Amino acid sequence: MKSKEENAHLIRTMWEAYHSDYFECCLKSFPNYYEFFTGGGVIDDFSFSLLGDVKGMRLLDTCCAGDAVQAFSWHNLGAKVTACDISPAAIDIARNNAEKMGLDVDFRVADAQTLAPIPDNSQDVVFATYICWYEDLRLACRNWHRVLKPGGRLLYRGVHPVAAVLGEEGGKLMVEEEYFDRKPDYYQFDATPAGRKYGVNVDKPTVNFRHTLADIINAICDAGFTLERVVETKAEREGFPQLSMLPHEMAVIAKAF
Ligand SMILES: C[S@@+](CC[C@H](N)C(=O)[O-])C[C@H]1O[C@@H](n2cnc3c(N)ncnc32)[C@H](O)[C@@H]1O
Repeated sequence: MKSKEENAHLIRTMWEAYHSDYFECCLKSFPNYYEFFTGGGVIDDFSFSLLGDVKGMRLLDTCCAGDAVQAFSWHNLGAKVTACDISPAAIDIARNNAEKMGLDVDFRVADAQTLAPIPDNSQDVVFATYICWYEDLRLACRNWHRVLKPGGRLLYRGVHPVAAVLGEEGGKLMVEEEYFDRKPDYYQFDATPAGRKYGVNVDKPTVNFRHTLADIINAICDAGFTLERVVETKAEREGFPQLSMLPHEMAVIAKAF
């Protein structure tokens, strides 16, 4: 079992090593990336409509990566966006892209669990994703609450924790992992499926963390938020009839007071 600092180091070094390949893969799977965002494009993300109009709002994206597709989409929806990532390589790529496209997004290197460079009471919206990389979800929620103005809203969206432990083979549903197992999951990161499709082969140790649905909701409430809405999406996955009957992604909207 490693310390929090060792775990954060493993995650940062893996993403530092992988990031330029990761962004190359993004460009291959999204060839009109630059035209799309300069033309005012907004990616298809089920959670984007949940907040209503974000025009003029200060919005923090906690985990943007080099592609920053959500950050650029929020920008194109009219929000004033600050976007963070723990990896300096990710932020360099995202900043270069913003400059190339003339999009005004403030990119910062920051751990989404602490948000050190982000002042208290400075945001109208926190958009939080990818909590599998966060060891301390409760600390993260307290800092998301800290940076929000009173009345500001958190939009969390991610894979539904039940969907994360299920698989399907030949029409048969399988529970692949213990839902309640919260031990850190150490593994050798090769690449995302998209990366492997394009011949990228990273080989770096890293770690992920599992959070149950109750862990997520309780961490948000205990940080001082009031829940407004929990949304579950249905998985519509071709070739996976069993998984298609179950939830796939989820979102939470909560208000800070
Ligand atoms: C899969 S990418 C996100 C990509 C993309 N923008 C999206 O949401 O589809 C995950 C990103 O999380 C970042 N990350 C991992 N741990 C983090 C943390 N504690 N704080 C901020 N960013 C983190 C990684 O550096 C990586 O760029």
